[in-house]
Amino acid sequence: MTINLFKGTRIIVGVSGSIAAYKAADLASRLTQAGADVDAILTESALKFVTPLTFQSVTGRRAYTDADLWGAEAHVLHVGLARGASLVVVAPATANTIARLAHGQADNLLTIVALAAECPLVAAPAMDAGMFSHPATQENLEILQRRGARIAGPVSGHLASGLEGPGRMIEPAEILGFIRLTLGRNGGLADRSVVVTAGGTHEAIDPVRVIANRSSGKQGFALAQAALDRGAQVTLISGPVSLPTPVGAVRVDVTTASEMAAAVHAAIGEADALLMAAAVADFRSAQAAGKKIHRSAGTPSITLEPTEDILEAVIEQRARTGHPRVVVGFAAESHDLVESARAKLRSKGLALIVANDILSQDSGFARDDNRVTLLDSDDTVQELPLMSKTDVAEVVIDRLERMLA
Ligand code: CTP
Repeated sequence: MTINLFKGTRIIVGVSGSIAAYKAADLASRLTQAGADVDAILTESALKFVTPLTFQSVTGRRAYTDADLWGAEAHVLHVGLARGASLVVVAPATANTIARLAHGQADNLLTIVALAAECPLVAAPAMDAGMFSHPATQENLEILQRRGARIAGPVSGHLASGLEGPGRMIEPAEILGFIRLTLGRNGGLADRSVVVTAGGTHEAIDPVRVIANRSSGKQGFALAQAALDRGAQVTLISGPVSLPTPVGAVRVDVTTASEMAAAVHAAIGEADALLMAAAVADFRSAQAAGKKIHRSAGTPSITLEPTEDILEAVIEQRARTGHPRVVVGFAAESHDLVESARAKLRSKGLALIVANDILSQDSGFARDDNRVTLLDSDDTVQELPLMSKTDVAEVVIDRLERMLA
């Protein structure tokens, strides 16, 4: 799946000698699928674990080794690879390669290119726990960080030595998240703070049962990622969903509408924008039972009461504080889409509303695609075709960027 952020980028994937090198092929593949041109450079010790062919096969481009360092084009190769590169990612980064990078040693093709390159550096360490915690490695990592490099991981876990501890390389999907954060840092929302709500809420009937809805959180999480891709500070307030946190987002997990209201209230103090993508319950049980309701007690009747209207409180707060400047609402409708959405846009004082037809066969809840119509306070109606939730997020964040400009 292509990702806007990667269009026209060339990324150098440096692979050093660790058993985690096999995961670097997955990273190179993900970057290629995202739309980047990927130049892999393998160190001599990486060649003990993986081959150039592995990387050529997933990137569709030549992969480089130290043999190229002394080949026919050697005098220009390292400069050519470094010049115009968008980012260098070293994954896995062994203790040895980290030491070389920190001290500007240029004794193999990867470290020469890293020294010649002027673009950002991301390093994903992989080594045994003792090597990682050694003061030498810690100091080397500090040097790299001070110079602006981003250190992605490691995490604690099972290590090749059989030990458990910090030193395990983070997964390729997460490294990709760190790369996005780095590429996007000077984007159109740099220095902006954006709060996104996602997923549905659960309201207790008793300790076992809940009133829930079908929201998967996918659209909200895609919005959070799209905002991160443009350099925003993102707080992601999520109901119960099973989705990984986009790298760089501050995630706040909530269960009920009232918890979500409190989390939104706490997060919007200084925020520039709120994207209210969550499917918040409108009603909850007026008296949730403290103990499980047994079947033998007969069919219970549940009295409902309204939950707090989060957007209403946000608009009141904005009238007092001026934050958040831009509030975007979402409307899930089963009929009269544009009319209902327009009424919500006006009554809730929103800058933009994203409306979708929940009865549409090919989009909506839990799917990867969505078909939405955008209505803004100037009464412009933009009907979008069926597209991925990722692409919908790009369009919405585009509009947000313009509204905040
Ligand atoms: N919303 C909210 N607080 C609630 C319920 C909804 O802030 N208690 C927000 C949603 O996150 C969404 C917008 O209001 O951004 C519209 O939600 P929706 O459920 O479509 O509309 P309602 O206002 O609840 O109206 P209705 O259910 O009658 O369609």
